Amino acid sequence: MMEIVRIPTKAHAFIQEQKKAGKTIGLVPTMGALHQGHAYLIEKCKRENDFTVCSIYVNPAQFNNQKDFDTYPDLFEQDIAMVKALGCNAVFAPSHQAMYPEGAGENLLQFNFGKLASELEGRYRPGHFSGVGVVVAKLLNIIAPHKAYFGQKDLQQYLIIKKLCRDLSFQTEIVMCPTKREEDGLAMSSRNLRLTKTEREKAPLLYSVLSEAVLELKSGKKASQVKQKAFDEIAKEPMFKPEYVEVVSLESFEILSGQLTENAAICVSAHLGNARLIDNLLVQV
Ligand code: PAF
Repeated sequence: MMEIVRIPTKAHAFIQEQKKAGKTIGLVPTMGALHQGHAYLIEKCKRENDFTVCSIYVNPAQFNNQKDFDTYPDLFEQDIAMVKALGCNAVFAPSHQAMYPEGAGENLLQFNFGKLASELEGRYRPGHFSGVGVVVAKLLNIIAPHKAYFGQKDLQQYLIIKKLCRDLSFQTEIVMCPTKREEDGLAMSSRNLRLTKTEREKAPLLYSVLSEAVLELKSGKKASQVKQKAFDEIAKEPMFKPEYVEVVSLESFEILSGQLTENAAICVSAHLGNARLIDNLLVQV
């Protein structure tokens, strides 16, 4: 039977019991509106741990845009049916009051992730990573899993969570899983639900532009030229409003502009209708 636990102290006690019984614990943190990308994380978590917990919580502290928060898809019943079918052992679905008894506003603890958070998502979503840091730290304290699973689509988030764990000595191993894509290449995301039919048809452009850019980077073209070309190609499509295309070091996440001499990622963010889409591809040299 799959337990649904809503109160942090109860969730903690329940997971401690599982640990005492000798089980390894895996956590898949989510904000709900689950798709096949989440299913992949849960399946991997199940293979690698004795007991799989999925958290479903739309974290107000990480939204820099109130409308994005207010319209974030809520599919709780459907999500529960999906995680049950996948064989998840427990769901942690707390209330806002339980997570932020004093509110998630200005008085909340702030994290500064330094250089890792100053560009890309950090630049366009001020305060976002601090809010992610707070909620992930809370989840790791409440569940105290052996491993926690995150998708590569949110590459900068993954690196920030790794830093959070390193700097604060969390004992959880942070595992990154490859981005799951639709057949036409569009990265799976809960926000894809906001796309109209026509926007959805245009959406795979991001993946095709990134794929082409990877080939160019591997052939020795300068990162500054490749990213400008990719940006222009997205901007040419009137439905898209690109925010950034950046080539970053996988090690330091610093922006690269020359020929690649280290492993990198090319990352994009663009608005398409009411959805803000992000994606990235790794470039191994
Ligand atoms: O990637 C997400 O869905 C969220 O940022 C996370 C990690 C669940 C924290 O709210």
